[in-house]
Amino acid sequence: MPPTASSPPSLVPLAASEKASSDDLSPSDVDHAYVLQASALYRSRTRALLLMLSLIASLALSLLALSGLQLLDQTEVRALDDRVAKLPAMGYNTWNAYHCDINETVILTQAKLIKSLGLADVGYNYINIDDCWAEMNRSAHGDLVASAERFPSGMKNFTDTVHALGFKAGIYSDSGWYTCQMYPGSFRNEARDAKQFQDWGFDYLKYDNCAEPFDDIIREGQVGKFAIMANAIKNLAQTSGKTPLIYSLCQWGREQPWLWARNFGQSWRTTEDIGPHWDALSSIINQNSFITWASDFYGHNDMDILEIGNGDLTFEEAKSHFTAWALMKSPLLIGTDLTTVTNETIEILSNHEIIAINQDPVFGTSISPFRWGVNPDWTYNATYPPSFWSGQSQNGTVIMLLNTLSKPTDLSFSLTESPWLRAGREYSVRDLWTHTNNGTAIRSFTAHAVPAHGAIALLLKDVGDEPDGIYPPCSP
Ligand code: GAL
Repeated sequence: MPPTASSPPSLVPLAASEKASSDDLSPSDVDHAYVLQASALYRSRTRALLLMLSLIASLALSLLALSGLQLLDQTEVRALDDRVAKLPAMGYNTWNAYHCDINETVILTQAKLIKSLGLADVGYNYINIDDCWAEMNRSAHGDLVASAERFPSGMKNFTDTVHALGFKAGIYSDSGWYTCQMYPGSFRNEARDAKQFQDWGFDYLKYDNCAEPFDDIIREGQVGKFAIMANAIKNLAQTSGKTPLIYSLCQWGREQPWLWARNFGQSWRTTEDIGPHWDALSSIINQNSFITWASDFYGHNDMDILEIGNGDLTFEEAKSHFTAWALMKSPLLIGTDLTTVTNETIEILSNHEIIAINQDPVFGTSISPFRWGVNPDWTYNATYPPSFWSGQSQNGTVIMLLNTLSKPTDLSFSLTESPWLRAGREYSVRDLWTHTNNGTAIRSFTAHAVPAHGAIALLLKDVGDEPDGIYPPCSP
């Protein structure tokens, strides 16, 4: 009988939350670590094979020594499967529609509407409670207590119902002494609270930034303050063997979380609170236009809860809002009251071609501006953020054209302005809002009469060489 073949050691990507070391995560931790997963050695009949295997083993050991990486046992390797939130989260959050006016009935009504309105079918699968769910005081044992008035059935019942409806459940806490609405925060109670959230059955934690009166001088620093909860979540996952809570940091962009939050969690707010009006949206797009590089799989710039359906947004503004958030790979959390939702709002929220870019399993990166338009490139301007954007997707090059003016305008660009398009080629043009194929583009593209504060979203696919005879000719 021939000897059983042994597979070579394989390099396996490992999430920061799954690192073998018992050390806590620190800001300098990298997102990916690699671990050599040693394969079993098998019996062999020949000395030659033994020699070969021992050579492989010593090579593996030298590699380990060289790289300083650690050998994990099977328990730790199992955690590889637990890496959470590769793609931006999609779901519902209570804050924009209800602020503190929440209770279990209101939230479960929204959850049921997400199903009946077809929103679950296009990917919205988290039901997230925001601030104001707790009693004002912890229990005598120091535990957080759910408001008896707002959640009379208790949190475990709540998450059971949410799960039975086919969703995952999210909860909110704060990295300071209090939440922004003065309910108890998790500062100095991080491990206890993470366990409480897990015991209640939650899958996702939004972690806010209020009520740390000595913010800048706490021993841990701002980054360290968010690391404590990251460690609590990591340790809890390791000891319980359960999937880690998704950790959504809400630090308002004040301490440049795009530089460090990827080491701790799966999304980070980049700006102050959103509002249901165009000025707030254009300002958020402006700020995020400078940090698009920070979003990729497992870590996303969070541009805040959607305002589609709220305030005084026009239909065009709401479409632009959804286009920018989705194509810039922000989490997509619905923030409107679905009991009174309009068909237009549903049409926007369920645009599956736009959602497909946000949830692209092959390309995790955001679109980025290739030209500002109204302003010279790199101008920081909350009213006139960039107009010309492009990025990659599994189905072609994504283009977003944003009219930041309050009147209709033509938006025109040369294909070679985008790093993902070339002269000398012909591209089919798919309009992701009209859901139509609009012929082909060669060398340049113009969108005519883009409405005030409107957006155009296109998918350009290479369909071959451009026809002969176009001037100037492309080099052969
Ligand atoms: C803010 C946060 C909002 C909401 C609110 C609750 O800090 O940015 O999204 O969570 O707190 O009080």
